Amino acid sequence: MDIFEAINSRRSIRKYKNTEISKANLEQILNAACMAPSSKNTQPWYFVAVRDESEKSYILGIMQQVAAQMKAPLEEYFKEHPDVAAQTLSFIKGLGAASVYVLVFSQKPYDESSESALTQSIAAAVQNLCLAASGLGLGTCWMRAPINVGFAQTFKDRYAKNKGQMLAMLTLGVPDEAPKAPKRKDDRYKII
Ligand SMILES: Cc1cc2nc3c(=O)[nH]c(=O)nc-3n(C[C@H](O)[C@H](O)[C@H](O)COP(=O)(O)O)c2cc1C
Repeated sequence: MDIFEAINSRRSIRKYKNTEISKANLEQILNAACMAPSSKNTQPWYFVAVRDESEKSYILGIMQQVAAQMKAPLEEYFKEHPDVAAQTLSFIKGLGAASVYVLVFSQKPYDESSESALTQSIAAAVQNLCLAASGLGLGTCWMRAPINVGFAQTFKDRYAKNKGQMLAMLTLGVPDEAPKAPKRKDDRYKII
């Protein structure tokens, strides 16, 4: 697939088909993530791709708690659009039946002086992952929800004890929806 097609067709996917992703595809996607640029070539990311059903169930258990904590604030935020709050909560609880969850950590704990550079490097790797998946016709949803409500340490203790902090979580799978792109805002660049 042409790179612009992969970029433009990438959407956050919150509903997946019950179709496995091959290990070869998963490795291709993770290797693409690791090809991202990084500050001082530190390659400061660490990905844990979870395919194992019992581990996925454990994570869904955590996501029930995430949803419970997010229910009231989401309902308040989307009070004009209760359907959006309900859909968001339903995705958080079931992760859209994605076949793989990818947990994103830093290799080492950050020190304050390098935090921004390392975060930018890891975000570049996550975007590579999303675009590589898109190029293969697969969907992702980049998420911060479990971190935002305080579950980063729970994930780190189980999956990446000796690494740094958890920065994101992604769902990955064969899309079972084709959402329209949310409208992009004007005035987001200038050329001089
Ligand atoms: C850092 C970051 C955190 C996000 N966290 C969540 C999340 O917790 N839950 C969710 O459903 N989507 C999450 N998203 C996805 C955004 O909602 C989505 O990218 C945005 O609405 C634009 O839609 P698009 O990805 O289809 O272009 C996150 C995206 C980013 C980059």
